[in-house]
Amino acid sequence: MSGIEIQELSLVYKTGREKFLALDNISTRIEDGEFICVVGSSGCGKSTLLGVLEGLMTPSSGRVLIDGKPIHGTGPERAVVFQQYTLFPWMNAIQNVIFGIKQVRRDLSAKQLEDTGMEFLQKVGLKDFMYKLPGEMSGGMQQRVAIARALAVNPKILLMDEPFGAIDAKTRLTLQEMLLKLWAEDEKKKTVVFVTHDIDEAILLADKILFMAPKRISHEIPVTMPRPRDRDSMYDNKKFRDLRNKLVILFYNEVKEHIGGEEVFL
Ligand SMILES: Nc1ncnc2c1ncn2[C@@H]1O[C@H](COP(=O)(O)OP(=O)(O)OP(=O)(O)O)[C@@H](O)[C@H]1O
Ligand SMILES: [Mg+2]
Repeated sequence: MSGIEIQELSLVYKTGREKFLALDNISTRIEDGEFICVVGSSGCGKSTLLGVLEGLMTPSSGRVLIDGKPIHGTGPERAVVFQQYTLFPWMNAIQNVIFGIKQVRRDLSAKQLEDTGMEFLQKVGLKDFMYKLPGEMSGGMQQRVAIARALAVNPKILLMDEPFGAIDAKTRLTLQEMLLKLWAEDEKKKTVVFVTHDIDEAILLADKILFMAPKRISHEIPVTMPRPRDRDSMYDNKKFRDLRNKLVILFYNEVKEHIGGEEVFL
């Protein structure tokens, strides 16, 4: 069966004698080509879940299947983009992208690597910056290079952990729209699992939102607004406003649960 299948997944962090249950018996299915956003308050387990999908963390129990096969460690069909800028500071933009490609394509010549690197830098609007070092680029530009590096390996699955979290609001809008365009124009759409704190961002991007309460997925919320989507038309859309309210209330009740207080109902 194709897609990602998460089956009764639990993860316990062990530090010395201390044990901490970070994910508690999570099960869900993600279809091929779906854009999934994972939202939830800080510490609820979003990055842990992504770490398991990446293959850097091994489940304490349960398993993750990709196309019917259990994952063991990382794999070339998965690429990641994190919030922290993860480019090599001593390599320029195109060298960073080429480094990524080389990890999975050892058969390409230097010329083919260069051409592919350039093609993907062009896709993220950075062709003129290919010889710049990360230190000479803004945070937004560095994230574009990181996205180019992830896409250039042509992964089936793109895992993104608050990739725009450290970026100013205006640049963030540009990057969201760029990502949506790149995802939509792909003939064979990538499956994207995108962690964010930003409700508007989640609604703009997602086919389905997984809302995490601590340790588990408490709600799976389909986003049925038609594509292509853009911010301006979304704010005028009643479905958008209703969904936004629902998510705000979920967040609010989540916080209330921690600090005590009345529950709010829709
Ligand atoms: N290496 C670790 N050892 C022990 N506990 C950890 C470790 N990493 C995370 N945790 C704990 O696991 C829980 C989930 O952490 P995680 O980083 O997945 O949360 P998150 O939802 O990504 O939070 P944020 O929104 O702040 O990034 C937290 O309570 C955190 O303190
Ligand atoms: Mg996190």
